[in-house]
Amino acid sequence: MRILGIETSCDETSAAIVDDGVHLVSQVTATQMAVHAQFGGVVPEVASRRHVVDITRVVEQTLADAEVTFAHLDAIAVTCGPGLLGSLLVGVSAAKGYAISTGKPLIGVHHIAGHVAAATLTTQNQAGVQPPFLCLVVSGGHTELLTVDESFTFTRLGGTRDDAAGEAYDKVARLLGLAYPGGPKVDQLAAEGDPAAFNFPRAYLDDEGFDFSFSGLKSAVNNELTKRRNRREAYEVRDVCASFQQAVIDVLVEKTRRAIAHTGMSRIVCAGGVAANRGLRQALGSLGQELGVDVVFPPLEFCTDNAAMIASAAYYRALHGKFSPLSLNAYAQLPLTAWQSW
Ligand code: KG4
Ligand code: ZN
Repeated sequence: MRILGIETSCDETSAAIVDDGVHLVSQVTATQMAVHAQFGGVVPEVASRRHVVDITRVVEQTLADAEVTFAHLDAIAVTCGPGLLGSLLVGVSAAKGYAISTGKPLIGVHHIAGHVAAATLTTQNQAGVQPPFLCLVVSGGHTELLTVDESFTFTRLGGTRDDAAGEAYDKVARLLGLAYPGGPKVDQLAAEGDPAAFNFPRAYLDDEGFDFSFSGLKSAVNNELTKRRNRREAYEVRDVCASFQQAVIDVLVEKTRRAIAHTGMSRIVCAGGVAANRGLRQALGSLGQELGVDVVFPPLEFCTDNAAMIASAAYYRALHGKFSPLSLNAYAQLPLTAWQSW
């Protein structure tokens, strides 16, 4: 089954063709990072206008690179939520237009389902894994702990109650005057700093559940920096980065440890943009070794937003005959459970 995926939920205009949910045939991604970096974060109105400019070229190039036409496709998949509404609407409208004009079935995909499906993609260097597995999704917009069963159905254990992990990285980076997106920069500086220099809070560790909170951590960093700046006390940016990162990792790893005990699952997938974080990779790797469970990170190119993961998630929908009507809409908020019941 050959599916064209389209992803425009944030600041990447991406299209990809994936065979049988696992083999990437071609992918083209137009990133807007440089445009938004000038503003220190994604500007929604600018993002949607850029998607309009790029979408047709990106889809046509993806088909050309694969040396196929729409006639060779079995379905057209698109991220329909959650995300920036204006950005999502560009992808959804384009996908609907292609579906109407070619007669190919349409599949609306939940963005988090895409991040999870990234682990099933096979590259030259890494074989994809198939569910069941436990999944920690950590991105700029989401922090979720889920179980994924054989039929690619999700059960949510918990998630963030405020900021996502990646959002906290980006906000702390901004407080430190680092360029957007700050996550990779904080990661890099953290490697050279002292993780015990500051004792930042680890929220919800006393809580039995699987929820997270990162906004208090961001405020704690802000308070510490403000205090030091007011007193004209020097501090090492790399120590702030290392201590902040350690607080994030401690919570993510501890909640994952408890989720493994709770579900008895023997494979964990860590997906989303923050899965690129070296400290988190190391810490989850050690947890896996300690508990004798398999820890999987999708290939780096499929951790941040991309269309291959959307085409891959759509494959499981298609297998179960779950296609979307042409009345498919875009949703800024879209609970995973609501999408699953479509
Ligand atoms: O999954 P993604 O591309 O977009 C969303 O769906 O949100 O994730 C982007 C997020 C940004 O917040 C970025 O700062 C963060 O992932 N990120 C990282 C790293 N690389 C990307 N955070 C920490 N360490 C990294 N190495
Ligand atoms: Zn994402």
